[in-house]
Amino acid sequence: MAEKERILVVDDDLNTLKMVESFLALKKYQVVTCLTFRDAMKEIDAGEFDAAVIDYFMPNTTGLEMMKAFHATDPDLPVIVLTASRDIKVAVNMIKEGAFNYLIKPVDPDELYVNLDNAFVNRRLKRENKKLKLDLKDRYKFDHIVGDSGRMREVFDLTARASKVRSNALIIGETGVGKELVAKAIHFNSDRCGGPFIGVNCSALAESLLEAELFGIEKNVATGVDARMGKFEAADGGSLFLDEVGDMSPSIQAKVLRAIQEREVERVGSHTPRKVNIRIIAATNRDLEAAVDQETFRKDLFYRLNVLVIPIPPLRLRKQDISPLCDHFLAKFCAENKMEVKNISIEAAKILMSHPWPGNVRELENTMERAVILCDEKTITPTHLPDNLAAASILLEGGADGDDCADLEQMVSKFEKGVILDALEKCAGRQNKAAQMLGVSERSMWYKIKKLGIQISKDS
Ligand SMILES: Nc1ncnc2c1ncn2[C@@H]1O[C@H](COP(=O)(O)OP(=O)(O)OP(=O)(O)O)[C@@H](O)[C@H]1O
Ligand SMILES: [Mg+2]
Repeated sequence: MAEKERILVVDDDLNTLKMVESFLALKKYQVVTCLTFRDAMKEIDAGEFDAAVIDYFMPNTTGLEMMKAFHATDPDLPVIVLTASRDIKVAVNMIKEGAFNYLIKPVDPDELYVNLDNAFVNRRLKRENKKLKLDLKDRYKFDHIVGDSGRMREVFDLTARASKVRSNALIIGETGVGKELVAKAIHFNSDRCGGPFIGVNCSALAESLLEAELFGIEKNVATGVDARMGKFEAADGGSLFLDEVGDMSPSIQAKVLRAIQEREVERVGSHTPRKVNIRIIAATNRDLEAAVDQETFRKDLFYRLNVLVIPIPPLRLRKQDISPLCDHFLAKFCAENKMEVKNISIEAAKILMSHPWPGNVRELENTMERAVILCDEKTITPTHLPDNLAAASILLEGGADGDDCADLEQMVSKFEKGVILDALEKCAGRQNKAAQMLGVSERSMWYKIKKLGIQISKDS
């Protein structure tokens, strides 16, 4: 049978002390009684209690002082304060300061039992919450970001640097490269890790919805609209992750800039500024500099965000990370599906190494999850991989050696060149249209055309 809870009872009045002790003994609780604050402190220092029941008026001290001293040692200890009916104000103040509840003397045993039961639940929940927070923090420690390549080591360095300072950070990279993972690592390794990490996807919502989401809404009695807190306020004391920041409309950009500069926000429908203490971590898969050139992104906001920049290269440019990532996902999905860890055949590994992974790590993660589920044997073979991957590897066999990074990049360039030529042809050679069609900025289109040596015929 589980041990009954330990309760500390402190009262300078021996009669009350004995009475409370006898009530608690009836429920078989482990009770420790003290007549003085000093003795109580000794007990608190010596061992853990599940709750404390204390008198408010004690010689040379008050219940409030006692509670503060207890909480300095054990912040989650539920304290129930005993008081006379004329001292309700004092009791209410104790609750404001962190007491669990108060009971009017003479103590009613049933009321005492109910309060203690609630206090134990409350303590358990607080502890579980703390543990969850710690687990979460642990999950986003750097050792959960996998990568051996020199390029990924640079990402680790920059992430570690970003977690030590409070400047805004901007994470840049294609879809699925791990921008959110890095944003969480910055937050959970920083001195703000005790505060919230709040994410907003700026591309997922229409302008008016995004505004309400970011800044909140003021209550409006006339229209019956309830007040709502925005993400800026919700992130107070922590970090606000502005995902796909390049997709914000000009009017939202102006408001975000103001919130960053002034460190305050106004809810929609209100002119009362509210102070917020947040750190911004932004992410984008767009070329923000090009967006600034094209005047679709505010230069002043860009400079505010562009303080500490963390570029995460696409997976095809850090081929060395593929194998450790495969091992990581294999272990993860086998554990999740309660399977023994599988291995990967040489043929399957060749295919995995040679695929250009346009969806980056997310695509690799999904591929590994699927393979684990499809594979009943100990070894993952090409049959457990999607057909398009296997087809790409056949292409490769005819040309370059799949283990050579330079050759892989050559292949990717060839592929890119084909896609760009195709788009240019469809757009009658107009670079801006082709860029639009492929979802890249004109600037990066121009850069790629130059880099890949694409000739554009004069008459098109
Ligand atoms: N280096 C890495 N190590 C381990 N897991 C990774 C790594 N990079 C990415 N992942 C995993 O890949 C998935 C995609 O990562 P994430 O969501 O951070 O990418 P993203 O860049 O934010 O993508 P998007 O632009 O689509 O939002 C996640 O499940 C993440 O845990
Ligand atoms: Mg993301």
